[in-house]
Amino acid sequence: MSMIRFLGHSAFHVSAPGLEGLIDPFLKGNDQAVVQPGDFSSLTHLFVTHGHWDHIGDTIELGLKTGATVVANAELCRYFSGKGLKTHPMYIGGWVPFPFGRVKFVPAMHGSGIMEGDQAVYGGIAVGIVLEVGKFRIYHAGDTGLTAEMGLLEALKIDLALLPIGGCYVMDIPDALRALEMIRPRRVVPMHYNTFPGIEAAPEEFLEALPEWTVGIRLDPGQSLQF
Ligand code: NI
Ligand code: MN
Repeated sequence: MSMIRFLGHSAFHVSAPGLEGLIDPFLKGNDQAVVQPGDFSSLTHLFVTHGHWDHIGDTIELGLKTGATVVANAELCRYFSGKGLKTHPMYIGGWVPFPFGRVKFVPAMHGSGIMEGDQAVYGGIAVGIVLEVGKFRIYHAGDTGLTAEMGLLEALKIDLALLPIGGCYVMDIPDALRALEMIRPRRVVPMHYNTFPGIEAAPEEFLEALPEWTVGIRLDPGQSLQF
């Protein structure tokens, strides 16, 4: 049995044969989070879409504790390997095989700098992540504005899209609805809203506006769906 569980903000836990993974594991300091780094004792992979604090989150602590491999862009992987973590660098490009399936990085329109003290460390460019777990394809958009590149994703036949809707730093609801028309996923879950000031959004407004050819699912932190 495979499942994906929402951990609040843009953080998700994906469990499947060969995979105990977290995506953008922002838990400490995330008021929505219902789990904390201490709740995870064995993880295989940590996927990080970009270098902002609300996406790197607890990656370093979790990676050191569990030995999980960080899967991220090349510059972020350099940063994490400098912290003693195992890494698997890749970039926007083709499919890369993993024990659980395949991973493909796709464009996101966003920054990726890492704030360390009062310094900004260059973190490459932000990505979206397509996880092919068995035959199931999950698209985690990361942080992104609406961008025409999303039109390339329809060909990937996404089963489940995780789209930011909170605006300000990412798509708002009207933009996410336009993105959906390009991506054409079978199911969609909204994320990246109501976690901190500036990204207030009503997920029910997004779900009520969905076209009939897709299924919208509201996941509250801690809730999961099976695939
Ligand atoms: Ni960001
Ligand atoms: Mn963010």
